[in-house]
Amino acid sequence: MNIDDTAATVAREADWDTAPGLLDGAMQLTLGPEECDLAYWITSVAQGTLRDRGVTGHHVDAKVPDFLKEPGPLREALILEFGYRGVSEEIATRLLAPYVELAPGIPEMEFYATQLLDEARHARVFRNHLVELGMPADTLLRDVEELSADYRRRVLQPVEDFTLDIVRDRKDFAGGVAVFAIVIEGVLAPAAELSERKWSPLSPATSEISRGTSIDEIRHLTVASTILKDHLAAHPESRDRIVEVIQAGVRLWDEVPDREFVIHREKLFQEGMAAHADRIGDYEIWPGVRMLDTTPDQRYDMAERWTEQMAEVRMAYMGLPPELLGGAASAT
Ligand SMILES: [Fe+2]
Ligand SMILES: [Fe+2]
Repeated sequence: MNIDDTAATVAREADWDTAPGLLDGAMQLTLGPEECDLAYWITSVAQGTLRDRGVTGHHVDAKVPDFLKEPGPLREALILEFGYRGVSEEIATRLLAPYVELAPGIPEMEFYATQLLDEARHARVFRNHLVELGMPADTLLRDVEELSADYRRRVLQPVEDFTLDIVRDRKDFAGGVAVFAIVIEGVLAPAAELSERKWSPLSPATSEISRGTSIDEIRHLTVASTILKDHLAAHPESRDRIVEVIQAGVRLWDEVPDREFVIHREKLFQEGMAAHADRIGDYEIWPGVRMLDTTPDQRYDMAERWTEQMAEVRMAYMGLPPELLGGAASAT
């Protein structure tokens, strides 16, 4: 992108009204760190995607319905979902600090600086949405810490330790890019897609917050793939090491008990969905399937299939055999 374009326009893939959905965007777009630099981020993200949505992640006209502010299974499901996602994004932000430090060139450094800010913002809008649901603002941080303690310890901590070993201890930038793009984001991104679709008929504010994060995730996934593809082309000798890192990351994700936590909140969602069936009606969560007809397992399995599809496309783009992902599909 040249300087004139950057100054004048919001890139189509970052414009709220024209950005593709996460699945299409992550599978069809190719973006690299040269185009998604700091100027792009300021113009297309801060002044584009985030225009009118910078504070809460949703437009002021996209409301939280009153029934989500009353106790009930839907509210409980949403608190768990956004509480966990907020903590995951906080960990993601902290993990990205060494990426900025290790980035081999200015384009990579600028890109990771923007991604770090994106994830900090995601953590913030997820967390603060809980206040919009009526949780007290003054005890929010402590309340979120409490409700997510098990998830953090059993699901996030192993992933955090694994990633820090690569980027902080071994100072392996490319290995770290692979872990973030294939394992960490690969799993967070389909959760964002499912969330946007699930909450769309129930809470415009919630759905918009997830939509906004999905637009960012398209960029995170595609730019990381390009960084890694270019790295592999320039350093073919690093291929075996990268492959090992990906395989170890996939094995790790296979072992963490993510499903248990997701299914618990999806069961609450199921209960709440039945109670608010009139609001959902014939709404289709994906083409040809009414959300009311889906089960917690089906929704989890669909997110898992999206993870698998998106990772396969990215692996092929990087010139790596998608079979490497092996157990990833069954784990996520
Ligand atoms: Fe994020
Ligand atoms: Fe991200």
